[in-house]
Amino acid sequence: MKNLRFSIRILSILMILSMIMLTGCAQKEVPDEIDETAKNLTVVGFSQVGSESSWRVANSESMKAAFTEENGYELIFDDAKQKQENQYKAIRTFIQQKVDFIVLAPITETGWDDVLLEAKEAGIPVIIVDRRVDADEELYTSWVGSDFLGEGRTATKWLETELTNRGKAEEEIRILHLQGTPGATAQLMRTRGLEEALESHENWSLAALIEGEYTEAKAYEATSEFLLTDTDIDVVYCENDNMAFGVMHALSDAGISYGRDGEVIIISFDAVRSALEECLAGHINLCVECNPLHGPRVARIIDTLKSNVIPVKNVYVEETSFDCMTITQEIIDERVY
Ligand code: AHR
Repeated sequence: MKNLRFSIRILSILMILSMIMLTGCAQKEVPDEIDETAKNLTVVGFSQVGSESSWRVANSESMKAAFTEENGYELIFDDAKQKQENQYKAIRTFIQQKVDFIVLAPITETGWDDVLLEAKEAGIPVIIVDRRVDADEELYTSWVGSDFLGEGRTATKWLETELTNRGKAEEEIRILHLQGTPGATAQLMRTRGLEEALESHENWSLAALIEGEYTEAKAYEATSEFLLTDTDIDVVYCENDNMAFGVMHALSDAGISYGRDGEVIIISFDAVRSALEECLAGHINLCVECNPLHGPRVARIIDTLKSNVIPVKNVYVEETSFDCMTITQEIIDERVY
């Protein structure tokens, strides 16, 4: 009997031990599940202008590719559909959501003081990407983007050389100017580049200034209308590729030739892959590059901030330009956007 009781006790102990072991195993599963749901992600709220151009689409893709869960981020992406009010709303929502960082691609330069101050008071660093803001520098951490005035100057310098090479340096030159969203840095600075050149070249004049909103559809519509009453143009200065596509379409409809072998010189900004293809085909004379791949650049700024180092205030991207006489298929093959 004594032996039986002893055996029962041993059995019970063994059962308890195996239960503890089983529970232990089961508990081991739990942390894995917790790891799945409670990853320590850095939350980034990104207010994007919209999707008006191929450049913008490439820019959004670059941000989405940089701020993935795999890279340790949760990206809250907001498309403002070209409206500054929507950008205000997005930023205020990011503040309520207590995101770790706010990234803003501002539609225009002005009107940001209040909302940036709110972010600062909430202790959320703001990084400005692409276009600039006309606000106190204390209200944002860093800006990364292009030298838009440099781009404009590259274009007009090229035009000066091109006209000289064609023996037209002294001739009257009429320029049709397709402008992007009014008040956007890309518009303001590329326009300033052209204005400087108009001032320094007495024989250059504006045929017209057309607002093309950075879209192919608007540029096509407005240029078609313009060409109904005036076809005396030598150059079209398009403040982005998509507007150049619209202009080329309108010129073709009006029976006006353009590009390498045509009557009208086409200058475009951005140099997205489809524009470079038009350049190689001789339809666009010059593509001035504006690089949209800002995702990794913004991520580097955030990494710097996370390691408690003050990042560089203004980061300019290196850019180049492509002439239809020298562009190659290899250059296009290397293009990722
Ligand atoms: O701010 C950059 C400009 O915005 C690009 O040139 C244009 O294509 C985009 O929409």
